[in-house]
Amino acid sequence: MSQEIKDRFRRFVAPTYGRFPITLDRGEGAYVWNTDGKRYLDLGGGIAVNCLGHAHPEISQVLADQSSRLMHCTNFYHFEGQAQLAENLAKRLGQGRVFFCNSGGESSEVMIKLARHYGQAEGRFEIITAENSFHGRTMAGISATGQGKIKDGFAPLLPGFSHVPFNDLDAVHAALTPATVAVMIEGVQGEGGIRPVSADMMLGLRRLCDEHNLLLLWDGVQCGHFRTGSFQSFQSILGDQLGDFLPDAIGMAKALGGGFPMGAVWIAEPHAEVLGPGTHGSTFGGNPLACAVANKILEVVDRDDLAANATALGHFFVNELAKLREKYSAAILEIRGLGLMIGIEMGGGFSSFDDGKPTALQWVSALHEAGMLTIPAGSSVVRFLPPLNLTREEAQAGLDLFEQTIQKIIA
Ligand SMILES: Cc1ncc(COP(=O)(O)O)c(C=O)c1O
Repeated sequence: MSQEIKDRFRRFVAPTYGRFPITLDRGEGAYVWNTDGKRYLDLGGGIAVNCLGHAHPEISQVLADQSSRLMHCTNFYHFEGQAQLAENLAKRLGQGRVFFCNSGGESSEVMIKLARHYGQAEGRFEIITAENSFHGRTMAGISATGQGKIKDGFAPLLPGFSHVPFNDLDAVHAALTPATVAVMIEGVQGEGGIRPVSADMMLGLRRLCDEHNLLLLWDGVQCGHFRTGSFQSFQSILGDQLGDFLPDAIGMAKALGGGFPMGAVWIAEPHAEVLGPGTHGSTFGGNPLACAVANKILEVVDRDDLAANATALGHFFVNELAKLREKYSAAILEIRGLGLMIGIEMGGGFSSFDDGKPTALQWVSALHEAGMLTIPAGSSVVRFLPPLNLTREEAQAGLDLFEQTIQKIIA
């Protein structure tokens, strides 16, 4: 069965992804099963998407209920679910309004279009982003992304993007030109290997943007939605220093729909009408099904205090991983984490790693054998992006599988 499905993938599915040889059949909570019945602990969470795990009964129920009531209507009409969701998201941030789309890449597009429209009258259009950043796979997204390998082969890219070293405010200053209109940044670089923006950098960027009339565009696609222990990562990182800090726009997707595809951009009130009627749109953006799921996720996260769970389990993971690092210093080189967004820089060159694959892929494959899903980043980072409702026992089970795998690889 599994081989037959893989063969059909090879014949009929576009080969844009390097897929692991795993054929999944079903999931429940933090676990998934393949078509042969093998169980995996899913610490990858579909790359930070499955925030309530798999097959959450309340999500399944709300999908079923909403689909039998009103599955889709165009954005030419009003309906309660979208109003409720926009209000619920905005209340967690500040005065502003929400545009709904379907993915993270589209949320980047919205922020880039917002910046272009904002600067249009003055001929300003340039956006500064960080090296090693990731903002999606659309043409604007890859133009904004600060990684050559994502852009290669797609010239000419959208003009007007420059990339500066991450967490380097002086470099942003130096990159300013009279045409600069915005700075776009991930709160925690995800694809770049789990690297948080520093509090000083955030506050410095906010000041710089205010001084130069630039928009501060925040890509919260991967690091948002409570993953770092707060709704958005700047709230976690700034903590007591938060004050009235707010970006001018925040891109969201991934965990927003917990597996139902959706994205959104919150736009701060002073700029909320920059993209006026007719300037942007999406057939499916914020449709009734997506909004019903997203509203239910927010209700469950609040009710079950999952932001606090993300903080507590994040500390647990990082502390326990630090102990493993002491024991296996050739295997674990560095641990970077904020809540349940954890990156582990792994060592390579072990004798069982013999087929020339990047270190991260070797470890992720070895963890598959042990019965655990994780996500590679860059050449040597293994990411844990588990559900926010993971239990301490499940976290411990993941750590045990991780240690067993290390022991096997270094033996
Ligand atoms: C920070 C960030 N922005 C944008 C995207 C693109 O999101 P999507 O794949 O939903 O288009 C991603 C996806 O990994 C991401 O991590």
